[in-house]
Amino acid sequence: MTRTPQAIAEEAATELRSRTGVDSYDIALVMGSGWASAADLLGEATHEMATADLPGFLPPAVEGHSGTLRGIRDGDRNLLAFLGRTHLYEGHGTDVVVHNVRTAVAAGAKTIVLTNAAGAINRDYSVGSPVLIADHLNLTARSPLTGADFVDLSETYDPKLRAAAREVDPDLPEGVYAAMPGPHFETPAEIRMLRAMGADLVGMSTVMEAIAARAAGARVLGMSLVTNVAAGLEGANLDHEDVLATGRDAAGTVGRLLADIVAQL
Ligand code: HPA
Repeated sequence: MTRTPQAIAEEAATELRSRTGVDSYDIALVMGSGWASAADLLGEATHEMATADLPGFLPPAVEGHSGTLRGIRDGDRNLLAFLGRTHLYEGHGTDVVVHNVRTAVAAGAKTIVLTNAAGAINRDYSVGSPVLIADHLNLTARSPLTGADFVDLSETYDPKLRAAAREVDPDLPEGVYAAMPGPHFETPAEIRMLRAMGADLVGMSTVMEAIAARAAGARVLGMSLVTNVAAGLEGANLDHEDVLATGRDAAGTVGRLLADIVAQL
């Protein structure tokens, strides 16, 4: 019989516990493009391994996604940071995309912090700055859930966690994140469509993980780093290298902000 995704996540959590000796994690963070070095500021790294060493994870496919899993001690709390993630556009299906979240929840995490790189549709945002995700538009036509799992997504991005983040930085803007399947960037016409639909940010990740986290009963905080102005709004062409470079430049600032926010959760 094939094992269920949940059974594989339990297996990964068991292996994680035995490798790290940590019985239960409090908060898990998924560090997207440009966010990996921000993990250095979260606390003392106690364990580090290739994520693919745990059952059910794939090796990383994208430059800038290092595919490392780090255990971090922050005071009396245990944090788990995934440096890199699997994307839908890699073509391995939704279960592998949300295996990080399912594993983290199986290892005890009740709070999941999802970070990503995004293009700015909202003209008030500036490149290199962080934006809280207030809500999302899932335009991937996919769900990580199958069967009659009617999960309420009214408050996908936890209002209390967002309030805690804004206590740290009252000027932190909030916006709606539109998830596209990728891997191509959007056309200018698609960006105009997304703006008309109410999107402030556009990216290729996060929403599957947010849905899986809510289905598993965990709270979600989402944060984007604006790495570029969305297609057609500024005339410049988009390039993955530029996305990564912006992430590297902003790592210190967003890392400190993230560490301060995590301390409040
Ligand atoms: N579009 C989609 N995904 C992205 C972008 C973008 O402009 N920037 C970073 N990830």
